[in-house]
Order: sequence, then C-alpha cells, then structure tokens
Amino acid sequence: MTFSLRKPLLFLGLLLPGTAALAQTKPTASPNANIEQRVTALLAQMTLEEKVGQLNQYSGREVTGPASDRKSTLLNSIRSGQVGSMLNVKGVKDTREIQAVALESRLHIPLLFSLDVIHGYQTTFPIPLGEAASWDLDAIRLGAHVAAKEAAASGIHWTFAPMVDIGRDPRWGRVMEGAGEDTYLGSQIAKARVLGFQGEKLGGTDAVLACAKHFAAYGAATAGRDYNAVDLSPQQLWETYLPPFKAAADAGVATFMNSFNTLNGIPATGNAYLQRDILKGQWQYPGFVVSDWGSIAELANWGYAADKKDAAQKALTAGSDMDMEGDAYSQNLAQLVKDGKVKTDLVDDAVRRILRKKFELGLFDDPYRFSDEAREKQVLSDPQNRVAARQMAQKSLVLLKNQNATLPLTKQLRTVALIGPLAKAKRDLNGSWTVDTDTTRITSLYDGLSQRAGKNTQLLYAKGCDTSGDSRAGFAQAVATAQRADLVVLAVGETWDMSGEAKSRTDIHLPGPQEELFKALKAAGKPVAVVVFGGRPLIFDAIADQADAILYAWWPGSEGGFALADVLFGDYNPAGKLPITFPRNVGQIPIAYNQQYNTGRPITKPGDIRYKSAYIDAPNTPRYAFGHGLSYTAFKYSDLKISRPQLKAGESVQVSFTLTNTGKTAGEEVAQLYLRDPVASVVRPLKELKDFRKISLKPGQSKTVTFTLDRDKLAFYNQQLEWKAEPGAFQLMVGSASDDIRLEGQMELLP
Ligand code: GLC
Repeated sequence: MTFSLRKPLLFLGLLLPGTAALAQTKPTASPNANIEQRVTALLAQMTLEEKVGQLNQYSGREVTGPASDRKSTLLNSIRSGQVGSMLNVKGVKDTREIQAVALESRLHIPLLFSLDVIHGYQTTFPIPLGEAASWDLDAIRLGAHVAAKEAAASGIHWTFAPMVDIGRDPRWGRVMEGAGEDTYLGSQIAKARVLGFQGEKLGGTDAVLACAKHFAAYGAATAGRDYNAVDLSPQQLWETYLPPFKAAADAGVATFMNSFNTLNGIPATGNAYLQRDILKGQWQYPGFVVSDWGSIAELANWGYAADKKDAAQKALTAGSDMDMEGDAYSQNLAQLVKDGKVKTDLVDDAVRRILRKKFELGLFDDPYRFSDEAREKQVLSDPQNRVAARQMAQKSLVLLKNQNATLPLTKQLRTVALIGPLAKAKRDLNGSWTVDTDTTRITSLYDGLSQRAGKNTQLLYAKGCDTSGDSRAGFAQAVATAQRADLVVLAVGETWDMSGEAKSRTDIHLPGPQEELFKALKAAGKPVAVVVFGGRPLIFDAIADQADAILYAWWPGSEGGFALADVLFGDYNPAGKLPITFPRNVGQIPIAYNQQYNTGRPITKPGDIRYKSAYIDAPNTPRYAFGHGLSYTAFKYSDLKISRPQLKAGESVQVSFTLTNTGKTAGEEVAQLYLRDPVASVVRPLKELKDFRKISLKPGQSKTVTFTLDRDKLAFYNQQLEWKAEPGAFQLMVGSASDDIRLEGQMELLP
C-alpha cells in the first residue's frame, strides 16, 4: 500500500493523517544483508512451539535465587526454548549463568536480558523530568550513553527506556519519567536519549537496545489516574502524543513498548490502528513491540477480550510481538495458530523482528559478549560516570525564586542551618525507577554542603519533621537551630516512592507538615532558601509566597548532594527551565501552557473576569510557567530581526536577536521561540514552542542567536487530519519562559 503525501488514509473509518508531517521512516535496509538470511534460515528450522517461545518474556528475580517452584519452572522453560527474553536479571555472573541455560535449547537461541535502566544503571542521573529541565540535548544524550555503558557491561542488552509519553498532568506519578508537557522539547529529547542508549549503530558492547514507551498516549490517562482510559481527538493524538514516538522511530529505536491504557475505547495492547496501521504500516517500523507488564492478559479485565486466549489472539493480531509476564502467548498462541485463529505469518513476523535484534547485537556470534567480568569492573568504577552525573544534576536544577540575591550562599556566611526531612536523605535522591539503591554511593544534600562549606562556615542541622503524618514535635528544635544561624537552607519535598508508576495523587501539596515547618522557621526571622525534591510539580503556596529563594531539585541522582552544593555556593550558575507547568492548585489541571486558547471570552483587562473564561476562585495563570527558571545573572534580549516578512512555499525565515549577559556572573540562558497562528481552520493555542537554544555568555558578552522557521513548523493537523500550514499572519515570540516573552514580531505565510 503506498501512502499519499497529502491525503489522509481511510482505515476502518479512521483517518490516518497525511504523511507529510511524519516524513516516512524509511524501512531500514537490513544493516547487514546476511542478518536477514540468517534470520530466515533460523526461522525455517523452528517449530511452532519454538517460535512462540521467542515471544515470551519473564521477570527473573527468582531465577538466580534460592530453589523455588517458580525458579525451576522458569529454568525448564528457558532450557526448552520457551523464553525469548528475561527482565530483571542483571550482572555478568547471573546473565552468564542464565544464558548458558538458554543455550542448552535445541536451536541454542540466546536470551535478551532487559532492565528498566531509566536514568542510570549504577551511577544514577537525575530523573528524566529533571534531565529535561536542563534543555541540554548533549548532556541528556551523554546521560543515556553512560547508563547504557554501565548496563551493557553488566550483561544487559535492552533497556525499557526512553519513556517518551507527553505528561501534562502532575496528578499522574509517571510525569517523573518523561520529558514534560511539550511535544517539540519531548521529541528532541526522545531522539537524544535513543542515540545515547543505542549509539549510532547497534552492536557495540557500550550500547543497548532502547525502547520507546508507552505506545501510546499513556500520559493522557483520565483524571491523571494510572492505568486509566484515554479519550483523545485525532488532532491531539497526532499533534501532541505521537511525535515523540515518531522521533524515536526516526532515530532508530530498536523496540517499542505498548501501554496499559485504552485509546478511545481500544486498549493500546490490542490496538491495530496504533501498532499495525501507524507504527508498522505508515511508519514502516522494523523493530518489535513488547507488551507492558501483563497488559495482554489485562485485555480481559478491560472487557476487550473474553479470556486470556481471546486476549492472545487480539494482541498478536494487533501487532504486540512479545508478551511480558502475561503468559497469554505461552498458554494459547500455538493452539490459536493450529485452530487457524492466528495466521502463521503474523507469528513469523513477530519472531523475525525479535531474532533480527539478537543478530544485530551479535548474540548468535557470542552470546556472552555483554557478560565480561573485567569490563564490568572497569566500566562500573569509571570516575567519569559520576562526573557526568554531577554535571547533569547541576544542569537539572531550576532556580524558581531568588529574592534579594539570597543565593548563592556567600563565603562570608558564618553559620548555615540545614533543616528538613530531606536534608540528609540519600535513597530519596535517586528517585523512583532507579536500579541502584546502595546509599553508600549516594551523596545527600548534607554531605554536599558539609564538604563544600568553607572552614569559616559552620553547618548546623535539624530534621524538623517527617514527610508524612502531622507531628510538630521537631519544630521547636528546628526553630532554635535556625535562630543560631545567619541563613536557613530548608530541604523538603516528596520521598522517592511518592511519584512514579502507580503513584497518582489527588493532592500534590508538599506531604506532611513540611509547609508548617517552613512557616515556623520563617517566623524566626532569618532568610530561608528552600530546596524542593520531587518527581512532579508540587504545590507549596506559603513557600512560594514567603521563601527568599527556591531551588527545585527533582530527584537529582547519586551526585545530587554535590550538585546542589555547587549551585547553592555559586560554583555553578543554575540555568534549568521547567519542562512542565506548576499549577496553583489541582483544580486548574489541565493547565499545560500549550493547552491555553484565546477562547471566545478572553480576559482583556486584568481582573475583569465577568462572563470571561476564568475561575472565580483562582487566576488562570500557573504558579510557575513552562520554561521558567532564573539565573544568578541577567540576560537582555534585543534587536529582533525577521529575515523576510513574507514566506513563500519552499522558503524559510531566520528569526534572530541579540542576547546579552548584563550581570556580573557567567551563565547560560535557554532562549525559547514560540509561535501563534491567530486565525486558522482549527483554533490554535496561544503559544507553541518551535525552537530553543542554550547559550553560554560571560558577563557583558553578547551573541546573536538565530532560529530557522520553515513551513513545516507552521503546520498543524486540519479537520481532515492533513498536516498543513495555512496562509496568513503568524505571531513570533522570543523569551526566557512561556510567560516571560521579551521580543515579539510578525511574519506572513503566502499561499
Ligand atoms: C512496568 C512499567 C514499564 C516497565 C515494565 C517492566 O509496569 O509500566 O514502564 O518497563 O513494567 O518493569
């Protein structure tokens, strides 16, 4: 079937958009012709049962543990070629041991060892949402590369990352795992992470298979509740949620993982529109799709399948190649093929896709090539890995507020009181989805400040309270400690298990009596700089209103304490920018910046909300906007130039301006380009991010920054789901944040 570049495709009454926007992923010619021949030759030897065996994946924590029924069942299945991949088996010793069992099978097909290496293997980087706050694509790619290097040296072939779900709802705990709310930023980061994990070409022992997940639109779960239904317009699906997956596919991501949610009533795991028509059809994707944990069997719970057998038939037919921990394929697929309910060539296609990756990794030539003791020791002890993690942690920190230049802490400070339940936290700094929880390898904020504070600065400490409950028993001592200090650093936030999978929250305030602790400390009359840890946007009204400075730390990883000290003492000038909007209250959600429209009743005069699109009990504006983040220096934007006021087909326009560091400290600024199409056949958001640059400037230095806009960047999906730019005027905005526009201009697109 050939796809027209301009006309939508009609499939089962569903519109597939024109492919101009999603310029087709060229089918990867097999990287090495003999791989296809080797796959074909092997497939021809396989029995139906052996083919089904490749489509099964199990979690293997028990498989290297003490004797158990589960362990012997798993080992027998592996030995008889009934398992294609194991997850949660890691380390050279264990992977070698289990691979040897797999090689006893009749055709000696090696296993794929997989693991959730989401933000580091042994060296833990900031959570992905924190990395996204760096807006530094090179640093993000390096972080993924270090994670891949360490994992690949430890017998791992495949990571279930990057998670590329657009996350706009801070009630959903998995926003911590993605790149935030914006499609353009999220697509750029998806590509950087895939290239970081996989390198330019698969097969190196410092790279692993990456996995774009969760396909698709998992982040749009109704009410921010994990595993819930998703209902989306075709425009939203194609314009907001699919592009990061397309970016990952175009970057060569080796695998996809589907998702637990339904999309407009059809579970993603059984959704042929997503997996066959879009991914394997229109995008001609050559890799394979693994289900999420048990999601094939869960089709029965959704009421989309009558039972596990029906679920297996629906999932395989819809394009789910491998069954993670569902036992739906192992128990039913062979019989379904024999009964003619599932076509053999669909099974063969799934097996072929999986075998191709095993060949590309070189596992048939040397099944143990990722399991080398000496390399494991050398790579895991490489000090450069921690250097990269500390630098990324520095870049991830977002200075939300800094009144009267409270920060950086000056060397003259005699006494600093470090207070709060997360001041000495270690495990929490690695956040959720961490592989390594060995706290001897994690630097707390207390460790970092103790090491950094000069000999003329005394560091006091008090815990103050817990992150749960409502006990104020520690307040008095905390206040007394504050009174002995020149300045208070307060460390508050979420613990590592308050965000992540299955961690949706209806209330995203700081948990426990932490805000009350802040108020008590503030009343002591000393400046209070607050460090907030968390996996999502949190609400902290009193702190936001009354703190002298606020540094948002996310979960900064194993080097987090050092990175925080670097920023607090000014050794590193913070440049982080929020990749997700922080609401004033949950009632404002959804509140992503690019979900804001002029409406028919815009607020034209501040405060005049009568019969306008507004709340009577809160402003429309967020607490902190997408793209917000301060610096210890200041930047001036000037001399906006638009290379041509009118754009004809095939042309592009350069939008340039001068950026100057007007402060006394060197620093970096993330300059952002936003666009608005004020009149169109489908109403457009007030602002959409179209480009950004991270610019480093010395005090007094100026640079010219240039963005390029072409027709594609002006386009959107019209009512016919065609990706089109419509003639007319466009507003251009350049700024330091989505709510801090410094320069504005116009251009016109001609027919
Ligand atoms: C989980 C997650 C998925 C993860 C998988 C394996 O349920 O949804 O992101 O990769 O199971 O741990």
